[in-house]
Order: sequence, then structure tokens, then C-alpha cells
Amino acid sequence: MAIEVRRVAGGFAAEVLGADPARDADFPDIHRAFLDHGVIVIRAQAQTPLAPEAQIAFSGRFGPLMGRRPSTPDKVLMPGHPEIILLSNRRVKGEKVGISDAGRYWHSDLCFEEKPNLGTVVHAVEIPPEGGDTLFADLEGAYAALPDDLKARIEGKRAAHTFRKHYLEVMAEGSDRPPLTPEQIDALAETYHPIARTHPETGRKTLFINPGHTTHVEGLGAAESRDLLDALYAVCLAPEHIYRHKWRVGDTVVWDNRRVMHNAEPYDMARYTRHMHRCSIHGDKPF
Ligand SMILES: [Fe+2]
Repeated sequence: MAIEVRRVAGGFAAEVLGADPARDADFPDIHRAFLDHGVIVIRAQAQTPLAPEAQIAFSGRFGPLMGRRPSTPDKVLMPGHPEIILLSNRRVKGEKVGISDAGRYWHSDLCFEEKPNLGTVVHAVEIPPEGGDTLFADLEGAYAALPDDLKARIEGKRAAHTFRKHYLEVMAEGSDRPPLTPEQIDALAETYHPIARTHPETGRKTLFINPGHTTHVEGLGAAESRDLLDALYAVCLAPEHIYRHKWRVGDTVVWDNRRVMHNAEPYDMARYTRHMHRCSIHGDKPF
């Protein structure tokens, strides 16, 4: 079956039909779709769930895998396959096996690192019948849609990113995720990146900010910084820049963290189980 790339109605993301992440020969078409669309959804193939080895090999074709980060507790790694983080509310012998409340806010994965994540590959093994959608915002489309005065205000400006702010917020709210050690929290430094970055593979300009991890604009006072970021987010979160992904079992979704941000909606964790495998790919220093 030929591979077909179909843009989702009215959106920037695309479904990739007839492709198998486990099949090497399909990768060039998948990679092209990934660069063109920023979010691609590969629907289930014969081999469901995708074997961990296959997901790791597939993810590694986009770039080197990131491995464990200071912000990741060891407990949530897949046993025998530490390249995979479990996004899950499953329990085994009463113990949680993964992170159950990951990413419930607008963010770009690991944007707070010197060399942030290139992309993320998530494979859905078990999903709830309702809730738990993932929203994506197209920051490349948002940049293109910025009015000239906003473009001028961000020219040459950098913003600060940190995981510490979000981590302390969720822990204060009573998250049951395994706590980081004081050394791990200390390692969560602030990093500065250009507000408008150039995508290293497509050459196109995109915004690179998000409400979850971006704390302020370098060189601006708190009020002016807040005002500028809010004005940018209003463009990013306009309906025409949003794709809502409703997960199906067997989906492999790949998103480009260099040009989209995402937000995981909650689901009823008392009634339903959701279990997903995530790989993260190393990116470049933004410019
Ligand atoms: Fe995320």
C-alpha cells in the first residue's frame, strides 16, 4: 500500500496512512511529512503495539535519543528500555509504573535545556474511551501570522526557560509523581533561547516560547515581558493554529518540538487506564 499523507481538516498536522514505523523503507516519507507538518499521526499497523525495540530504532532515525534527563525520575523508565518513558496510570503490585499527569499545560518538551528536544515519539498502547486528548499549537504558523509590530518587538530577543517553575507548581498542588532529589532540582537551571528561532532542517522561522516553561523575556521589565508573551500566546492559541489529537490504540504520534507546543488534557484516572511509550530525540541549540 502506498503511503498517503493527509492533512487533518483545517489544520497543520497530518495523518500518515499506510506507513509502518517499524519498516525502514517508509522512513523517508514519514520524515518528509514530519518536517512539512510538525505533527504526524501514524495509525496502527499490523504489529500493535509497536515493539519497544522498533520504537527506539524508529525514533533514533530522526536523531540521537535523549536518554534520561535530570527532570526525569528513574522509576518511570521502561524496565530494560530506559530510552522509553512510560506515560501511564497503570499500577503493578500497587506501584505506579509511569508518569500519569505529564504535560497538562502548554509546553515544548525539554525546551529548558541548552539543546532542547528535537521531537517526541509517543505510541499509544491503551487509551481511555473519553478524555485525554492532546492539543498541539503550530508555532510556525503563529510566527507567520504575527502582525508586523509584534514581529518587530521580538526581533533579536531571547526568552528564559526552566522546568523548575512547573515542577514546583505541580508538586505544590499535590502531584503523586516520584519527587526529584534536591540535586536534580538544583540541576534545573534557566536557559535562554531566541523567541523566534530558525528551524534547522526547514530553514523556516518559528516562535519558540510556551506558557509552561518560559518565564520572561530577557532585558524587559516584568510587566512588559508578561505583556509581550501574552500577546504572542494569543496568536499561538488562536483556533486556526490548534490541532486536537484524539488518540486511538496503536497510534504513533511524532511531533516537532522545535515548532509546536502541546498540552495533554486530563482523563478520568479513577475509571480508565492510559498507557503510552514515549521516546525523546536530541535537538540542536536554537538559533
Ligand atoms: Fe510533553
